[in-house]
Amino acid sequence: MTIQRTDYTPYPYELPAIHLEFDLDPKCTLVHTKIDVKAKADTMTGEALILDGEAIDLRGLRIDGQSWDHYELDKDLGKLIIRSLPRACTLEIDSSCNPSSNDALMGLYVSGKSLFTQCEPEGFRRISWFADRPDVMSRFQVTLRADPDVYPILLSNGNRIHAEQLPDGRQSCVWEDPFLKPSYLFALVAGQFDCREQTVRTRSGREVLLQIYSDPGTFDRTLWAMESLIRALRWDESRFDLELDLDRFMIVVAADFNMGAMENKGLNVFNAAYVLADPETATDSNFEGIEAVIGHEYFHNWTGNRVTCRDWFQLSLKEGLTVFRDQEFTADMKAEGLDPARAASARSVKRIDDVAMLRAAQFPEDAGPMAHPIRPQSYEEISNFYTATVYEKGAEVIRMMHTLLGEEIFQLGMKEYFRRHDGQAVTCDDFVDAMQHAWQTRHPERDLTVFARWYSQAGTPSVKVTTERTSEHDQIRLTLSQQCPPVGVERNANIEKQPFHIPVLLGAINQQGESLTLQCDEQHGQTLLLELTRQSQSWLINGWTQDAAGSFLRDFSAPVRLEISQPQEALHRLARHDPNAFARWEATQILLSNAVLKLAELADDGQARTDLPESLTTSIHTLSDTFSLILQDTTLDDAYRTRLLEMPSDKYLLHQMDQMDPLAVAQAKNRLVQILARPLETALVQIVTEAQADGDDSKDVFDPSALAAGRRALVNLALDWLCQMGSTQGKALALAQYDRAGNMTARLGALLALFRHPEHDSAVLDASESFYTRFQDNALVIDKWFALQASAPTTDVAKARSLMQHPAFNRRNPNRVRALLFQFCANNPLGFHAADGSGYQFWAEQVIDLDRSNPEVAARLARVLDHWRHHRPVTQDMMQAALQSVADQSDLSPNTREVVGKALAL
Ligand code: TRP
Ligand code: ZN
Repeated sequence: MTIQRTDYTPYPYELPAIHLEFDLDPKCTLVHTKIDVKAKADTMTGEALILDGEAIDLRGLRIDGQSWDHYELDKDLGKLIIRSLPRACTLEIDSSCNPSSNDALMGLYVSGKSLFTQCEPEGFRRISWFADRPDVMSRFQVTLRADPDVYPILLSNGNRIHAEQLPDGRQSCVWEDPFLKPSYLFALVAGQFDCREQTVRTRSGREVLLQIYSDPGTFDRTLWAMESLIRALRWDESRFDLELDLDRFMIVVAADFNMGAMENKGLNVFNAAYVLADPETATDSNFEGIEAVIGHEYFHNWTGNRVTCRDWFQLSLKEGLTVFRDQEFTADMKAEGLDPARAASARSVKRIDDVAMLRAAQFPEDAGPMAHPIRPQSYEEISNFYTATVYEKGAEVIRMMHTLLGEEIFQLGMKEYFRRHDGQAVTCDDFVDAMQHAWQTRHPERDLTVFARWYSQAGTPSVKVTTERTSEHDQIRLTLSQQCPPVGVERNANIEKQPFHIPVLLGAINQQGESLTLQCDEQHGQTLLLELTRQSQSWLINGWTQDAAGSFLRDFSAPVRLEISQPQEALHRLARHDPNAFARWEATQILLSNAVLKLAELADDGQARTDLPESLTTSIHTLSDTFSLILQDTTLDDAYRTRLLEMPSDKYLLHQMDQMDPLAVAQAKNRLVQILARPLETALVQIVTEAQADGDDSKDVFDPSALAAGRRALVNLALDWLCQMGSTQGKALALAQYDRAGNMTARLGALLALFRHPEHDSAVLDASESFYTRFQDNALVIDKWFALQASAPTTDVAKARSLMQHPAFNRRNPNRVRALLFQFCANNPLGFHAADGSGYQFWAEQVIDLDRSNPEVAARLARVLDHWRHHRPVTQDMMQAALQSVADQSDLSPNTREVVGKALAL
């Protein structure tokens, strides 16, 4: 069934209070629900009250204490329709559910020995009958009763107002959340946990209790999470002027979890992978991920919880904004304590990572069958719309407003948003309106009317840049024109797409690599902000010397594709001198992409030719020289230098091909590294040996700072390149680093490099074996072990199948499934795209099997074949057959059905 955004109607009743009583039991939990019901003023007396419920049994229903039989239960639709109600009454429902058989991990479920809930977006209906939609907000009181031997700790949202021992030996406690909230923010947790706690004072002087609950024995691994939480709290106070509104803020760790984490009011539930860390077992990117996700969920307390979504089409209202906030948090943390020049390049590392992600995940999504605007027009299953578009492109849209308005006015807009909507469930338009209001207080002539189209139109616009010299001295006419043909479901809707409002930051540098001072209309400086709001516009720009090389879309000021033909020389110049750290990286990426794509094109039947055209060889050698300069330039931040050298992702490269050829791209990348890195061998070896001499990889005291992490990243890149080149010395260095590694970044980096070395001898296998034995009791590290093998170029379908037989593989645990199945299908081009199509058959089997237990995760795996139409004809046929074999299953979940249905149809 397709739900349309325009079909929204308000709920006819208010449900101002709900009291839930749970008799917790893994096999059969009894739920008593008491709801205050009040008809809204314009609701006709007797209008049915319709509640949602799924996979729960109804055991009784009373109105104002009397049993009531004016109701119908539609099990197929999951609706309970109650008729002839008085305008105001108390509704009581008895129901039950079975947490232990809940493998979907939505609603109340068992993970390890504990009980957890996940309600967003529509999981509450698997716990109790209720109006399970975000615009119905209630005051929640929750009573929990359970056996204290199994469930000594009982948690829910808000404050614990009562606890007692019951005559039957069970314990009972009552929680009350002082804030109105929709059902998707409800949570309960029951089990045995270690608890790390700390009280801190908020800026206004209130004392608040912070707690992190995790499995017994994991206390030592929650320190970084607690420190991250405190940083998040402080940052939201100082940058957004937002303070924690609760007396108590809890985080609980779950080993089985569908996504990263969940922002339930005052009781966040986290995937263990985003909480537990120590230097022995977690990589630098794990540390960064934990800080970011803890920040993200914490920031939701204002952007998501205090102001929530009217309906699920507005999901980006909270997600796009909160991702923008967590991105800024990470960037500020990276830059903290650095001098301004280094701070700028450190911040740019976060920007680069986010843009690389956007291009690898969101651009392809916007060009495929699941394409949708950040505020979708329709959906079949809302769980399928927790996408890169809603999250990451949503954040880009917020970022563009931030670029247009500037930090100060943007913050005024945030203030206005909370002033208008605190405690409400609102729309994306409401947010844009508040921002526009703030903008107009300073600039009455400005508005966001055209800008708002980012919310209603899908697709990645392409912006064409042309310049021509005028007869004036040092002046050019710059023309920008945009294009964004209909994508995905848009193509069936017969819509006329309108131009977007696109902010373009630009600058220019001369032959000597110096920045030019430019002038255009009222603007004057080294960076100009142009606003493209029509299909095509021109500007006269002064100060653009004959030898200028233009640097466009600095800081990636808009989520667009640039179409520009720049001479090679200009790109090489930007790669060496662009003062905008992002644009400099962009230049190296373009040069690298061009080289990989050219090499892929030249390779026939996978056999790389030895004779390369001279223009290509010259360009690669120039790039190699640039890289050599970068490797010597120690004034640059190490993390940033690593980014400058890194290859673009396969996904980004594939989407630039007329016909995707994953094998050719993987081989071309490898070939490019070999050509590019050969002249750099000595420099690369030096980077590793210096670090090893300094004992960086084996330090007893671990330095988690971004600065130290940058150095480790550069060393690992060097090892990776040396191994890819087949360097014997590189391999010896990798083995040495593996053996002495004092932290997971060094250990895993060495192992990854060894897996990329063409000679896969016993030394490599021994390293992999010892890794397993050493960490077999740590699930998160074993996930890394599975992921490493699943994505290794030597792993084919047969090997993937044998890994599934490994005793440590568990298909009920989403992290393990992601480590093995997702890594193999999405991150192992050689194994997955084997010429016989065996990878695609394997994929179909796994999607079908997973769909029976966990539709949300299955539907994500299903998306791996989204772009089957962009492959070569033979591959297309095999992929289509695999998709069809999934679609032919009669009992597919709505989640997976929507994904494969759209893939086959659009
Ligand atoms: N709202 C969560 C976040 O982005 C994510 C989320 C949505 C989620 N649905 C979920 C997490 C289901 C786990 C399971 O912060
Ligand atoms: Zn979120």
